[in-house]
Amino acid sequence: MLQICCPLILGIGGFFIYDSITERKGGKVMLTKTPRGTQDVLPAEVYKWHYVENTVREVAKNFGFTEIRTPVFEHTELFVRGIGDTTDVVEKEMYTFEDRSGRSITLKPEGTAPVVRSFIEHKLYTEPQPTKLFYIIPVFRYEKPQAGRYREHHQFGVEVFGAINPSVDAEVINLAMTIYKKMGIEKLELRINNIGCPKCRKDYHQQLQQYLKDRLEHLCTTCQSRFERNPMRIIDCKSDKCQEQIQDVPLMLHHICKECEDHFEGLKRYLKASEIDYIVDAKIVRGLDYYTKTAFEIITDEAGKKGTLCGGGRYDKLVEDCGGPTTPGVGFGMGLERAILSLDTQGIEIPKPKTFDVFIVTMGEAANLKGFEILNKLRAVGLKADQDHMNRSVKAQFKYADKMMADYSIIVGEDELAKGIVILKNMTNGEQETISIQEIDSLLLERLK
Ligand code: HAM
Repeated sequence: MLQICCPLILGIGGFFIYDSITERKGGKVMLTKTPRGTQDVLPAEVYKWHYVENTVREVAKNFGFTEIRTPVFEHTELFVRGIGDTTDVVEKEMYTFEDRSGRSITLKPEGTAPVVRSFIEHKLYTEPQPTKLFYIIPVFRYEKPQAGRYREHHQFGVEVFGAINPSVDAEVINLAMTIYKKMGIEKLELRINNIGCPKCRKDYHQQLQQYLKDRLEHLCTTCQSRFERNPMRIIDCKSDKCQEQIQDVPLMLHHICKECEDHFEGLKRYLKASEIDYIVDAKIVRGLDYYTKTAFEIITDEAGKKGTLCGGGRYDKLVEDCGGPTTPGVGFGMGLERAILSLDTQGIEIPKPKTFDVFIVTMGEAANLKGFEILNKLRAVGLKADQDHMNRSVKAQFKYADKMMADYSIIVGEDELAKGIVILKNMTNGEQETISIQEIDSLLLERLK
């Protein structure tokens, strides 16, 4: 095993062996590349993230949700128990490691189980119900990276605990659709399904196994291993080989009990009341095992390639399975990279905030110092302001102010200083005027806000 000692990484105190945490290609350590499937959000792009994050927060609050923050990692067992040990996420995709005390730790592969853990740990069920929570989190899955699929992605998610009524299923769907509408994202399809409850699933599993029994040898090895314990997972298999075998597979929706059927009909009524179109898609299974009754996905058909922007559903047994009191739950996770990708693909313009309102151009050390004072005055009234820190020529300072799209520049020169004035230049039309230092902040505030 290649081990590299790098005093730079640790800085002080000696050497640090870090071969296992460093990306390598052909034996060469990739110090200047993000790990595969991850990406930087650069300053030039971050405004898109702020726009999406601000929108989801605003709409969530408008729907009566409050934010919850949970750790980036949890005990591995929470995910194994919560998501299900025969899911792709748990079997193949988790970032799991032992910490220095030998505990098995996993970076969040999804957001629901941690929120359920927190709901139980802090007895949130003792507060007025329902509990309506939202979160914005990084999610880690060891998947094959491709456009819109990453090893670290970000989700906006919501979870509602304590409400059994299908109106709340419609409410979370409505929330997701409202967010897309507000951002201007179009060409969306809402697909809904009901995947039954433990009562009706038992019989269905038997029928499913009956159907799959003769096809077992043609299924992939993963599906073969799921046949006994979790046959419904097979419907969700991405392999073409398995999909060929299950073309006329019996589907849960056609075998649900009266309670599930009533719930599904209720959901449809509430969606109609919210004027939300939907397609019933009996093939939706979802990739996580905790779902009961409602399962839904919001997909887009951009450039002919279907992508899931948002997925969720009801999970009435999860709180109990994780050690809490019997409490129904429903929620969704919305991929933020995919939302931004849709905004870009659909050519939706996101307002780009400028870096500076005002840039102070100075000439000489005394002017620089005065500029520093003026900067504080401008910032104190809430204006975005900066000045040169690189000893640039006046011409270069103007050029920089122009590039940064400052509305105004303030010129502080030795002559003006003596008179207690500055020159204010409108960067759009080039007009200049002389202003007293005393009133520069109030004048600019009035003009710019
Ligand atoms: P999920 O369907 O696994 O559900 O993920 C939710 C959303 O995250 C997806 O619809 C997609 O937009 C995005 N996403 C998933 N994997 C990736 C990836 N590798 N790269 C980029 N984006 C991705 C859940 O995680 C559930 N916890 C949702 C939920 C909350 N259900 C009930 N409450």
